[in-house]
Amino acid sequence: MSKKIAVLVGSLRKDSYNLKIAKVFQQIAPSSLSLHIIQIGDLPLYNEDIDTQTPPPSYTRFRQEIANCQGVIFITPEYNRGLPAVIKNAIDVGSRPYGQSVWSKKPAAIISVSPGGIGGFGANHQLRQSLVFLDMPTLQQPEAYFGGVSSAFDANGNITAKSQEFLSSIINAYATWVEKLS
Ligand SMILES: Cc1cc2nc3c(=O)[nH]c(=O)nc-3n(C[C@H](O)[C@H](O)[C@H](O)COP(=O)(O)O)c2cc1C
Repeated sequence: MSKKIAVLVGSLRKDSYNLKIAKVFQQIAPSSLSLHIIQIGDLPLYNEDIDTQTPPPSYTRFRQEIANCQGVIFITPEYNRGLPAVIKNAIDVGSRPYGQSVWSKKPAAIISVSPGGIGGFGANHQLRQSLVFLDMPTLQQPEAYFGGVSSAFDANGNITAKSQEFLSSIINAYATWVEKLS
C-alpha cells in the first residue's frame, strides 16, 4: 500500500511555480507514495491566545491531515533570503499544543524553487533548522535547489525533460528514504 505524504507549498499565488512543481511531483512519484497537497493559506497567524480547548477549525483540520500522513514534502520559494511566513506559520501551528507536535519522526524533504540562480538556498536551509528541532529526519541528498524555474516549463506548460529528470531523482530518493525509516 502506498504511503500518504503531505505536500506543503510555500506560495499562495494562483500561478505559483512551486505549486506547479508540487503537481509534477504528484504525477511522477513512484507508486509507493501518494502525494497530497495540504492547504496552509487559511491558517490564522499562530497565536497561543486562540489555540485554546477549541482552536480555530483550520488548526484542527491541518493537524489531523498532517497526523494522517507518513511523511512531509516542503516545496517553497525563498522570500528575502529566508522562509515565506506561510510555511513557518504552518510549522508553528503543527508544533502545538506543547508535547503534541504532528511533525515528530516524519521523514521530510525540502525542495526550494526560484526563478533565480541560487534556487532558494537560503529558504531551504532556514527550513532545515526548524526540522532539526522538530525531529524530522530530512533527506540530505540530492540537494534540491531548483533555480531557473521560469524556463523549466515549455510553451504548453509541460515540464522539460531535463527538469523532470532532476525532480525524479529527488522524489525517488525520498521514496527510498521513507522506506528506510518505516
Ligand atoms: C516578498 C518576496 C521576496 C522575494 N525574495 C526572493 C529571494 O530572496 N530569493 C529569490 O530567489 N527569489 C525571491 N523572490 C522571487 C520569488 O522567487 C518569485 O516571486 C517566485 O516566483 C515565487 O514563487 P511562486 O512562483 O511559487 O509564487 C521574492 C518574491 C517575493 C514576493
